Amino acid sequence: MATRVLIGGQWGDEGKGKIVDVLTERASWIARFQGGNNAGHTVKVGDSKYVLHLIPSGILREGKTCILGNGCVIDPAGFLKELDEVHAGGVNTSGRLWISDRAQLALPYHRALDGARENRDCKDSVKIGTTRRGIGPAYADKMTRIGLRAGDMLEADFEERLRVNIREHNETLVGHHCPTLDPEAVVSEVLAASERMKPLITDTTLLINTAVLKGEEILFEGAQGTMLDIDHGSYPYVTSSNTTSGGAATGTGVPPNRIEDVIGVAKAYTTRVGEGPFPTELDDDTGLKIAKIGDEFGATTGRPRRCGWFDAVVARYAVMVNGINWWAITKLDVLDDFDTIKICTAYELDGEVIEFLPGHINRFAACKPVYEEMPGWKTPTTACRTWEDLPEACRNYIHRLEELTCAPAGLVSVGPKRDETILTPKAPAEFRG
Ligand code: IMP
Repeated sequence: MATRVLIGGQWGDEGKGKIVDVLTERASWIARFQGGNNAGHTVKVGDSKYVLHLIPSGILREGKTCILGNGCVIDPAGFLKELDEVHAGGVNTSGRLWISDRAQLALPYHRALDGARENRDCKDSVKIGTTRRGIGPAYADKMTRIGLRAGDMLEADFEERLRVNIREHNETLVGHHCPTLDPEAVVSEVLAASERMKPLITDTTLLINTAVLKGEEILFEGAQGTMLDIDHGSYPYVTSSNTTSGGAATGTGVPPNRIEDVIGVAKAYTTRVGEGPFPTELDDDTGLKIAKIGDEFGATTGRPRRCGWFDAVVARYAVMVNGINWWAITKLDVLDDFDTIKICTAYELDGEVIEFLPGHINRFAACKPVYEEMPGWKTPTTACRTWEDLPEACRNYIHRLEELTCAPAGLVSVGPKRDETILTPKAPAEFRG
């Protein structure tokens, strides 16, 4: 199969970076299709550790071409900082990193507005707990059609249009009783960045569709997760883009009927950062134990992640809205030392047991998890390399997740390194070699 989308099946931070890194061995092209530097992928290659926010992790493999598609929002300063870090790690990106001329720019005033909204101390406004990277305000400008796109950097009137935007956003900041930005400082920062970005800006829609027609292997790298999707997630506690598989088409210009496979990534338990309901959240020692063993701190903001048991209602929903064909289950080893492990199979809402996810946030917030409990395996799994190496109780746990979510597990990850990965008998034959 030539075109695959990789999607987070929970609230983001599922460990997609590592799975992308493993799967890109086969792919020639890796495309981001939504989000910006709100994402955070930690990838370990040998003894080196990279934290990537915007640049696809495929960049760490020689010979792969990476694309930031039209659905992304690009913070020029953040992008260049990351590019410098990748270069400092000895990675040559020349000729294999492209930015869509249709991608939106996330500019300093978007960051300022994001922070201003999050800081509002007003009981009537919802605090989302954003990453403060300006993502929401940048997408808002896109929708109101005042946003600047990467392609605008190539045009003679870019500075003029930038100045108009700075003026308008400064007025909004005044409305929020926040300090305004110095227009000259913003203009010089953005223009300097644009000089470095210009050679990378191109019509990626044409590039990637040409690759699709040639039958080249393409991996669409989702950021965040299903429950953070602007339409299908736990609105309003979501990000501002379509994180689900449909976003791969709209966010790159590759038509939906050219996308052949959808892989969901889910942790063996659940985490989320930011505000909003989380039915299986463990506000106790067990939650702390998972956080500690799993090193659950946000790669972008360093915030501690909220932890809980695997929520099969959420994962089943992710299978439905994304068309997930198979799962990559990550961080299985984090559960190595538990006597018993719970799985949320359904919710109790208003005295009824429901097996689906309610659409309204108030109803979702009222859901109580219905659990079943399975025996733990109490054996280290990080050294396991085949499905048969895994303890029986561990395999049973995976089987149960498959049953409850209606999708097979083709890959399980038992540690952060590339080789700490097991392809199960259910992985597509081409991966099992
Ligand atoms: P924003 O994307 O910065 O606007 O933040 C909106 C919500 O999405 C917040 O709850 C963030 O914590 C969450 N979020 C954004 N990016 C990620 C991510 O990469 N992983 C997990 N949560 C994220």
